[in-house]
Amino acid sequence: MSKKNINLDKNLDDSYQEGVEDYDNLDSPVDVDDEIIDDPIKEKIKPKEITDLPGIGPTSAEKLKAAGYETYESIAVASPMELVAVASLGEGTAIKAIKAARDALEMGFESAEKILDRRKLISRITTGSSSLDELLGGGIESQSITEVYGKFASGKSQWCFQLCVTAQLPKDQGGLDGAVLYIDTENSFRPERVSQIAQYRGLDPEKVMKNIFVARAYNSDHQMLLAEKGVDLIKDKNIKLVIVDSLTSQFRSEFTGRGQLSDRQQKINKHMRLLQKIAELYNVVVFVTNQVMSRPDILFGDPTDAIGGNVVKHASKTRVYLRKGTGSKRIAKLVDSPSLPDGEAVYNVTGDGLVD
Ligand SMILES: Nc1ncnc2c1ncn2[C@@H]1O[C@H](COP(=O)(O)OP(=O)(O)OP(=O)(O)O)[C@@H](O)[C@H]1O
Ligand SMILES: [Mg+2]
Repeated sequence: MSKKNINLDKNLDDSYQEGVEDYDNLDSPVDVDDEIIDDPIKEKIKPKEITDLPGIGPTSAEKLKAAGYETYESIAVASPMELVAVASLGEGTAIKAIKAARDALEMGFESAEKILDRRKLISRITTGSSSLDELLGGGIESQSITEVYGKFASGKSQWCFQLCVTAQLPKDQGGLDGAVLYIDTENSFRPERVSQIAQYRGLDPEKVMKNIFVARAYNSDHQMLLAEKGVDLIKDKNIKLVIVDSLTSQFRSEFTGRGQLSDRQQKINKHMRLLQKIAELYNVVVFVTNQVMSRPDILFGDPTDAIGGNVVKHASKTRVYLRKGTGSKRIAKLVDSPSLPDGEAVYNVTGDGLVD
């Protein structure tokens, strides 16, 4: 067993219960309908069937699926000979299918100039605290996932409430003048708090509430579905911020056995890939919260680690670890950022939200 798996098994063993409710008695209100997707951007997010690839009929698709090649991604990274072997395809057909999958996923090279152009469009939402903004290079940026993690009551949900407000501030005040999509998996969204923070920031609480679209996720499948459905709202409602609070708790309470670990990780991975695509395609901020587990094997330093292992670690571009200080003081530590130095910032959580 790899080192990574050992750590994740610990995660399943530990007895963290905060924030995890019993959802067994709740009825899921979702109606799943597979509507036709005709929006070209949504088309990119829609999971593709491998039968859409040239030369892959239902029989070959069955064989490929049986051998674990179920997605465009798995075909795109396969070698022609693998596909020939498992699905009895001709070599030419295999090559064409792989190329089509790669094209569809836009897996080719692109110029650095094009990447730079896209990065120029990155926008930021202020946290409301200048020390935090400085730590984060000016606020929470669009086009990628930002994750805050920490123990219960470390202030993760307070960050969410705060951003619900600051995202709606005008651009010259560090906001994006945009609406918010909020996926609440722990029933912890508190409009009263948002209203309080809005007042402090000089916004009309009623207007602020109208621009926050909250959905309560009852289980992990529902959570994933809500993210897909959210795509509809993003353009219609000028959504600039997508929040998932918490990213992992549903997965964690549902997949409890060791044998389910890899299923759980695969599902979290899929969920995060969708969130990542949403961030990039719509140039929005994606902000997720995550819990921690104890790491009894760590003797020095802080013996905690975020849930979800490498899957979450790699998908979140910016990761911030939250700790409680004395009184209203909180400490945020920037853990992973591709472009900023690691560091810490001190801020306060008060009735008015996050402040210096
Ligand atoms: N109105 C308020 N005024 C001052 N501080 C507040 C207020 N509301 C909440 N807090 C602070 O925020 C803490 C709760 O933080 P929060 O709910 O964001 O934690 P969390 O990290 O989301 O926890 P969990 O893992 O349980 O979801 C409280 O313990 C308190 O210190
Ligand atoms: Mg919370």
